[in-house]
Amino acid sequence: MLHVENLKKQYTAFDGRPGGGVLGASFTLREGELFTLLGPSGCGKTTTLRAVAGLETPDTGRIAIGGQEMFNSQSGVNVALYDRNIGMVFQSYAIWPHMTVFENAAYPLRVSRGRKHSEREIETKVMRTLELVGLNAYAKRPAPQLSGGQQQRLALARALTREPRLLLLDEPLSNLDAQLREQMRVELKRLQQETGVTAVYVTHDQAEALAISDRIAVMNEGRIVQLGMPKEIYSRPASEFVANFIGRTNLLRGTLTRNAAAETISPVATDMGELLCLFPNAAAAQSKVALVIRPEHIAIRKVNSVEERDPNTNRLAGHVIREIYLGEMVEYLVQAGANEIIVRTLSGAAAKGDAVTLTFAAEHTVALATV
Ligand SMILES: Nc1ncnc2c1ncn2[C@@H]1O[C@H](COP(=O)(O)OP(=O)(O)OP(=O)(O)O)[C@@H](O)[C@H]1O
Ligand SMILES: [Mg+2]
Repeated sequence: MLHVENLKKQYTAFDGRPGGGVLGASFTLREGELFTLLGPSGCGKTTTLRAVAGLETPDTGRIAIGGQEMFNSQSGVNVALYDRNIGMVFQSYAIWPHMTVFENAAYPLRVSRGRKHSEREIETKVMRTLELVGLNAYAKRPAPQLSGGQQQRLALARALTREPRLLLLDEPLSNLDAQLREQMRVELKRLQQETGVTAVYVTHDQAEALAISDRIAVMNEGRIVQLGMPKEIYSRPASEFVANFIGRTNLLRGTLTRNAAAETISPVATDMGELLCLFPNAAAAQSKVALVIRPEHIAIRKVNSVEERDPNTNRLAGHVIREIYLGEMVEYLVQAGANEIIVRTLSGAAAKGDAVTLTFAAEHTVALATV
């Protein structure tokens, strides 16, 4: 549905040197997919979207939508933005304050350069999209008299009225408070599934990305550093950057004691003794590795309490130096040797000062080769 190949758009910094932008991104979207570009501020997410929309002319690369070439730096193809049939919701959503809700949503149809729409057609299409976003009862209201969440939904409705083949969403929920964001996130996913529209979603919020995406491309400094399903990205991060960016995590250092084949469990020497680790990729003996252990995969119990022994479980001794109540969970900070380890559990199994044993499965101790 959307094919982006070796997209490059580098800005010039104010001192004349090469600046930020996108430095070579490639990805392909299936029809009906919700695909997310996730990464820290300035990594090139908006630049990528603007290039796809035709608001920005790339330096090099190729962009095709539904098999039709929109941009090709080699052959010189560059389809104008209004001929790309794309719906877009911008980072700072803008509804037109001098128009009613209805007129805001109708605007793209009125200015459409293609086929002219009759008033009846416009009425039908607009009311259908307003109903989709739950604003049909507000059609006659001046747009500024909507709440933040309603304005957000209106911006979405406006992007959908022309039934675009591709929807581009640049941090569409960033202006909303935390609770409304979570609510709208579910709404948005439902809308996207109901309309079947293919969408590129941009966010720097990892929780949002994990919750709504079919696939995620994690970006850093103008490049895609990992592309996969939310679960893969979370449980098998390809690098320390991805591991740190996607959720809270523990990172330990170690040295591989013998060769490890891909998808096997092998021992790694650390300053706290040997730990059994899962190697998503093959690695050679003596190589340095970083171990990723998610806080919720670690069990904590007071020393001397009964436990089952499992040969594929790692054990560390330590003591609790901090306990934070998070409502639905408790987070502990445990001093184990020279390391401070974060543990998250559902119930308060220990208290500050307690001597504890931490256990975590080898399969949840993911080893990454370090460079
Ligand atoms: N018009 C411009 N001129 C010069 N540099 C620019 C321009 N637009 C963006 N940049 C730079 O390009 C890089 C990528 O910008 P971009 O807007 O794509 O980031 P982003 O990932 O969308 O970030 P955010 O999450 O903050 O919106 C940044 O370093 C930015 O400063
Ligand atoms: Mg941006």
